[in-house]
Amino acid sequence: MRRLIFLLPLILLVNCRQQPAPPTGLVAEKAMVVSAREEASKIGVEIMRQGGNAFDAMVATELALAVAYPYAGNLGGGGFMVYRKSNGDIGGLDYREKAPLSAHKDMYLDSLGNVVPNMSTVGATAVGVPGTIAGVIEVHQKFGTLPLRIIMEPVIALANKGVVVTEKQGERLEKHRNQFVEVNGDSTKFSTVYKMGDTIKYPALATTLEKILLHGRDGFYKGEVAQKLASFIQEQGGYITEEDLAQYEAKWRAPITFDYKDLRIITMSPPSSGGVTINQIFKMMEPYNIARFGHNSPKTIQLFTEAARRAYADRNFFLGDPDFVDIPLDVLLDDAYLAARFSDFSFEKATPSEEVSYGAVEVVESMETTHYSIVDSEGNAISATTTLNGAYGSKLYSDELGFFFNNEMDDFSAKPGVPNMYGLIGAEANSIAPQKRMLSSMTPTIVEKEGQLYMVVGTPGGSTIITAVAQTILSVYEFNLSMQEAVNAPRFHHQWLPDVIKFEEEGFPEAVKTALQSKGYEILEGRTPVIGKVDAIRVLPNGSLEGGADKRGDDTAAGF
Ligand code: DON
Repeated sequence: MRRLIFLLPLILLVNCRQQPAPPTGLVAEKAMVVSAREEASKIGVEIMRQGGNAFDAMVATELALAVAYPYAGNLGGGGFMVYRKSNGDIGGLDYREKAPLSAHKDMYLDSLGNVVPNMSTVGATAVGVPGTIAGVIEVHQKFGTLPLRIIMEPVIALANKGVVVTEKQGERLEKHRNQFVEVNGDSTKFSTVYKMGDTIKYPALATTLEKILLHGRDGFYKGEVAQKLASFIQEQGGYITEEDLAQYEAKWRAPITFDYKDLRIITMSPPSSGGVTINQIFKMMEPYNIARFGHNSPKTIQLFTEAARRAYADRNFFLGDPDFVDIPLDVLLDDAYLAARFSDFSFEKATPSEEVSYGAVEVVESMETTHYSIVDSEGNAISATTTLNGAYGSKLYSDELGFFFNNEMDDFSAKPGVPNMYGLIGAEANSIAPQKRMLSSMTPTIVEKEGQLYMVVGTPGGSTIITAVAQTILSVYEFNLSMQEAVNAPRFHHQWLPDVIKFEEEGFPEAVKTALQSKGYEILEGRTPVIGKVDAIRVLPNGSLEGGADKRGDDTAAGF
């Protein structure tokens, strides 16, 4: 008895650690969508209420984001999706953009071999062959249960009825308006000043969507839309041809899967770097009992930073489109390799990334991609991240077709050693070639615990996507935060080069930063207002779902 009394606090402590945090986000019993806009989450949920599965809901949500969230939702971009069906089957879809047929390695260099400013980021020269429509049609053909008409009609209705501008959206449109005019002229739709509360209607986009509804992928990649798209891009000085469009295909790819303690993590494989890099980070951290270090404590930040530093160094050198380059995945993901790579880590001091500094790289606003997470009433789960790359992509907007075009060509390494807009320094593996896919950081991820669905998670954020996804998983699993708390929690980032830890402006006490500085870490604040904008779902012990919709945006969870 005495022994029991003595052990009681310990038993309670262990039990506390094992009890998952009570939910603080929206809870739904059966099905949920969390996305960047309420309209898109609701349309996705409505499709499931009508008997559609998570795949039907994905098609609806992805297309609804193209209407309600033109900042990143798109017809003119691409993305990645990872799924886990209720029977445990998993898969991944790559609907990433491709380089046009006429692309070549030095296409963004001048005669002296220097990168031409803006050529891979602004206007028609920056546009890669879009993949989104091929992606959603592929998903619908393989796994959809409802007719495309039922899925697309509410989206087309939304485009015709229009979308009310939120405060954040109003600010973003205002911020980029001059660029819209520079790229598209002053009669373009987005030269108009739209303020909070205004309704923007998208009749041209509705017409394009009607063509897709009628003809499936051919409604976009062949025929009238393809002709208009190719001639528009070429008139503006870009490279995409009808042949590029006709040849585009989305590709099913086996996800990257690995265990972290008693979790199994299912995430995107190349041409996204997300899965490989997050796998390396988790495996380097696994031997440590980080729950004991504390959430966002100096020790946790230090361990994570050192793992991320080494993982990003590998990312930038080895990763590219697997259809074009051999990636030594078996070595990069080997436990012994990762243990050896981390063997010089010490809590005493920072490991410098390199002697050579590439100088201060402007950190751009980090929300321009968009992620959504879906779980349906059967337990099928979808994690999808989609993007135009920059805010409103290349800013090139087709008034006739009703959508923005990506500037994804900037995700290639235009010249080895020269950083792209996320400060990522690429190598030969990610050089440009015709029909090659540019390396991505998008990390749509699904997590199992003890064989059951546990979490669906992902985020925008360019190069910070990988660290933001990893930190969200750790916040729930190691530090016992609810899904909503984990999504809202302050985040930090390190990507090997530049050799700095970026912190979100709020949420990290001075003492934490001073402790890290004393060990030789350089800290960058002030240029990174937010790191990621995570939309996630956690399965609670009773099987209901908790949404985590990031407070950093207009993100909304919906469900039933
Ligand atoms: O694929 C990538 O890694 C980038 N094009 C993602 C861009 C992104 O997340 C924009 N948000 N900052």
